[in-house]
Amino acid sequence: MKAAGYTLRPPFPSMLRAVEFSHHLLREHLFPGDMAIDATAGNGHDTHFLAQLTGPDGMVYAFDVQGGAIAATRQLLERWGVPGDSWNLIHAGHETMLEAIPAIWHGRAGAVLFNLGYLPGSDKSVTTGAATTVAAIRAALTLLRPGGILVAVLYTAHPGGKEEAQAVLDFCAGMLPREFHSIEYRTVNSRNHPPSVVAIEKAGTDMEPDYSI
Ligand SMILES: C[S@@+](CC[C@H](N)C(=O)[O-])C[C@H]1O[C@@H](n2cnc3c(N)ncnc32)[C@H](O)[C@@H]1O
Repeated sequence: MKAAGYTLRPPFPSMLRAVEFSHHLLREHLFPGDMAIDATAGNGHDTHFLAQLTGPDGMVYAFDVQGGAIAATRQLLERWGVPGDSWNLIHAGHETMLEAIPAIWHGRAGAVLFNLGYLPGSDKSVTTGAATTVAAIRAALTLLRPGGILVAVLYTAHPGGKEEAQAVLDFCAGMLPREFHSIEYRTVNSRNHPPSVVAIEKAGTDMEPDYSI
């Protein structure tokens, strides 16, 4: 496209950033009426995003260990007028999600999102951690429906972040390919520590995975 003698190009880099990519995957897997889980509510932006996809007839469960994060998420959802019976905020660690989410939903989650690390603008010493994150991922995979997706945004710049990211990748590498398909999306040539995305899709859609690739 030409304008005033210049060729208009998309901004550089044009590829999706980590959080944008995580949202792209969620958009592809969630439908109105679905149940979704935000494992790290924080300020509620992701919870709100999920609630927009699951809609007024769906349900979003959101977890956070910080009372302030739960309050901020509640405030955001109310400000946007998201119906109160389409979300449920749980002030507890995501590693408790199997016990905290009613059995009727087990095996029915369309997506589970983990935006790991600490909450920007808040207490940086409260971060997610390798052991509880991996325990929560195990629980989340039980909660997913066939064809559902788990998406984790991984940060490595803060203390413990690298170890946590490695623990998640090690866990993913050990999963059986006939049960789960897992990918990693990351910038290869950055001098900083940009976030990356790991996604795990549960098998069992109407199409069988192609093991030849
Ligand atoms: C990067 S922030 C999440 C950002 C959030 N998704 C948003 O849209 O604002 C990470 C959050 O994880 C929370 N957290 C830390 N450990 C946790 C745990 N075991 N279970 C649930 N949340 C935890 C922190 O309190 C923090 O709010």
